[in-house]
Amino acid sequence: MAFGGVQLPRTLLCVNIDHVAALREAGGGNEPDLLEVAAVCKDRGCNGISTHLREDRRHVQERDVFAIKGRIIAKFYLEIGLSDEMIEIAKKVRPDRITIVPEKREETTAEGGLDLGKHISKIRDTVELFRNEDIPVSLFLEPDMETVDICKECGADYIEINTASYCNAAQITEVEGEIDRIYRAADHAVKLGLKVNAGRGLNYRNVVPLLHARELLEVNIGHSIISRSVFVGLAKAVDEMLEVLD
Ligand code: PXP
Repeated sequence: MAFGGVQLPRTLLCVNIDHVAALREAGGGNEPDLLEVAAVCKDRGCNGISTHLREDRRHVQERDVFAIKGRIIAKFYLEIGLSDEMIEIAKKVRPDRITIVPEKREETTAEGGLDLGKHISKIRDTVELFRNEDIPVSLFLEPDMETVDICKECGADYIEINTASYCNAAQITEVEGEIDRIYRAADHAVKLGLKVNAGRGLNYRNVVPLLHARELLEVNIGHSIISRSVFVGLAKAVDEMLEVLD
């Protein structure tokens, strides 16, 4: 991508396949096959595949994360809440990165970012535990300077900026304010030595303004790509997103 005459590296794409697992669970069998879906994403040029293994197992199951990790030669990022059970599973799966997300039973998906202040000691211990296992850790958080500071204090390697507020903003001034907030948080994080990803609610249009942020390494997108695949097929839906990122 050329910006201001300078060639920027393409922002990488990670596809979140939780919605595919939800569809499979609704049918009660093994269709659509998560491994096939992950393989198509990888073949089309995605950098990674992500899944959120929830405590209630409403979509992705434990067997899925072991199978994806074992069989797909893409980066595999496992999203987990802060429970001891999930931490133990993650240690066994050994994904390429753990993303710690907040998890509430009643939500449809991970809603806000982590409340780092409230859970700081548990997060710090968990980050240390995974770092000792050589598994990088990302924290899913709101794009605020103080939150980024705490993330650094916790010893995390990455932040994943929760883009939901930006994606849900309706008025242009609100949208611009949210973009600015994301840019500032990303800039601040990089200055602190953190690597920056973003996701939640991103689609083929609203991802574009974020791509000018040089700090943004990877976007983590699920719903819009899987929805688009209903009309054009998964390979094309992924290709179209990769074109946008280019
Ligand atoms: N990032 C995180 C941490 C997520 O939990 C999810 C799934 O909700 C996503 C990104 C992808 O969000 P979406 O499906 O809205 O693209």
